[in-house]
Amino acid sequence: MKKITTIAGDGVGKEVMEAGLTILESLNLNYDFIKSKAGFECFQNCGKTIPEETIKNAKKSAATLFGAITSTPSEKSPIITLRKELDVFANLRPIKTFEGVNSLFNNIDFLIIRENTEGLYSQIESFEKEEEKNSTKKEKKENNENEKNNKITKTIAKRVITKKASTKICEFAYKTAIKNNRKKITCVHKENVLKKTDGIFKESFYNVVERYSAKCPDIKANDYYIDATAMYLITKPQEFDIIVTSNLYGDILSDEGAGLVGGLGLSPSANIGDKNGLFEPVHGSAPDIEGKGLANPIAMILSISMMLEFLKEDFYAKQINKAVENVLKSKKIATPDLGGNSKTSDITIAIKKELENL
Ligand code: NAI
Ligand code: MG
Repeated sequence: MKKITTIAGDGVGKEVMEAGLTILESLNLNYDFIKSKAGFECFQNCGKTIPEETIKNAKKSAATLFGAITSTPSEKSPIITLRKELDVFANLRPIKTFEGVNSLFNNIDFLIIRENTEGLYSQIESFEKEEEKNSTKKEKKENNENEKNNKITKTIAKRVITKKASTKICEFAYKTAIKNNRKKITCVHKENVLKKTDGIFKESFYNVVERYSAKCPDIKANDYYIDATAMYLITKPQEFDIIVTSNLYGDILSDEGAGLVGGLGLSPSANIGDKNGLFEPVHGSAPDIEGKGLANPIAMILSISMMLEFLKEDFYAKQINKAVENVLKSKKIATPDLGGNSKTSDITIAIKKELENL
């Protein structure tokens, strides 16, 4: 039987995973679930935020479903490690308004495609070394003292942007546009300041545009700076169809996008590679609502729909979307993030019932 690795993680990660599995197990599908560990609690128990075994399980599964983790200070992020290990180079985050949900705008429907393997999330950080070379003995001694006293005065993060990964993500944006009948791709960067790194990202984008424009002349292409985009998402969000961007910009814009359409409780995501797929709600472990049964499970349930589409279970992927849409439209029940007072389990049961009646 095909396998799906599930990693519940910490906090509400566990609560929305339980909801998601309730939905998955109610469908007529043949998958084995391998429950695996990662996150802060896992670190406390075994000294690792993501054990080798979890990575091994994910690699040999048809897909991996991830809840959310609490970050461990001083440790690398297990979700970033997993994305790297699985080489899931594209992070897809749909931003869509739902009928029945209060939001600033109607009819927003765009997709953020975020480069997932490099950029500022390469996690290459250090203390300044250059200065030490030229500094006097006295200054060096002071630097060492500062490090010892944990008073670091200068830190560096490397932002890696390669032509190869930039080209690959822009090609992926085109393939996604063709597959989903989307008509416009906007490249987001800050090339006016980060001339080299964002320069290569923008240049790679337009090289891909040139190659694809003959094949699909109906897909428009343009580019904006990241700061202007942050504003346009609020002033004219309907203009966007596909946004393709680097790692950190995509992370930030997708939370902004989530805010436009009803919050993190409704925002799913897919991490796609040539072989592997990793699916997760955009939100984190939400310690402020943990243990109260108040987490909105819809972001997780929509992530499951994206996973089923990846697994070519299109029928159930569409059924889940329809069931979620119907439950939201009915306005009968909603978790507190959407202005209601229902529990995670109420929403889950309502979606399960809706699926049975479709
Ligand atoms: P968060 O996403 O956990 O929470 C932000 C806000 O959204 C909170 O007010 C929370 O109550 C609300 N929220 C999140 N999920 C919700 C849901 N399903 N239903 C209703 N409301 C929801 O982000 P925060 O607070 O910045 O981070 C908490 C922890 O999670 C940190 O340790 C952070 O590093 C980690 N984190 C993990 C992620 C992951 O596992 N992929 C992603 C983002 C943060
Ligand atoms: Mg984020």
